[in-house]
Amino acid sequence: MATSPRLLLVVLLLFASAAAPTVAVRLVVGGSKRWAPNVNYTDWADGHEFHVGDWLEFDYEKDRYDVVQVNETAYATCDGSSPILSYSRGRNFVFRLNTTGRLYFICSRGYCWNGMKVSVLVQPAPPPPPPAMAPSSRASRARAAAGVWRWAAITVLVGAAVPLRV
Ligand SMILES: *[C@@H]1O[C@H](CO)[C@@H](O)[C@H](O)[C@H]1NC(C)=O
Ligand SMILES: *[C@@H]1O[C@H](CO)[C@@H](O)[C@H](O)[C@H]1NC(C)=O
Ligand SMILES: *[C@@H]1O[C@H](CO)[C@@H](O)[C@H](O)[C@H]1NC(C)=O
Repeated sequence: MATSPRLLLVVLLLFASAAAPTVAVRLVVGGSKRWAPNVNYTDWADGHEFHVGDWLEFDYEKDRYDVVQVNETAYATCDGSSPILSYSRGRNFVFRLNTTGRLYFICSRGYCWNGMKVSVLVQPAPPPPPPAMAPSSRASRARAAAGVWRWAAITVLVGAAVPLRV
């Protein structure tokens, strides 16, 4: 019957929409200003939420800047001499947020003094959405089933009516 592939599609779509909120976010540091001097990254970070599983993307001018992860002290003093992690190849650096807590990044090439430093507070991954889709998928299945029965009933009635008219 033609109803069952359509029903399958409805169920698949419901599953897809239920899964969407758990998808990790990729955040470009600085937004359209990217990773560069003279950007207020405190303002940028304040406008975003950071969760475990999200990705931080640093886009920068090749060969000019770098990305160095440091501790709080080194962040405050723009000291990139003992990095936790250092990245300078290419024109971008993508960093997965694996753990909760505060992370600090600076540019070690002098531009940290021009504001090229960012700190983000990583929060636990958002909880999976409640299974609110289940009842609605049951409801749509019930609606579809009701439609099938209505159609069957009409067919039977029409079938019964036709011989009477002949
Ligand atoms: C960034 O902007 C905030 C206000 O939105 C201000 O308090 C802060 O001092 C600025 N930071 C820098 C480095 O200019
Ligand atoms: C932070 O890193 C600096 C080197 O950049 C190091 O001297 C210092 O001991 C570290 N501080 C902490 C609290 O780990
Ligand atoms: C995060 O975890 C993944 C897989 O466990 C690992 O490959 C990756 O290097 C980690 N990233 C960071 C920034 O620690």
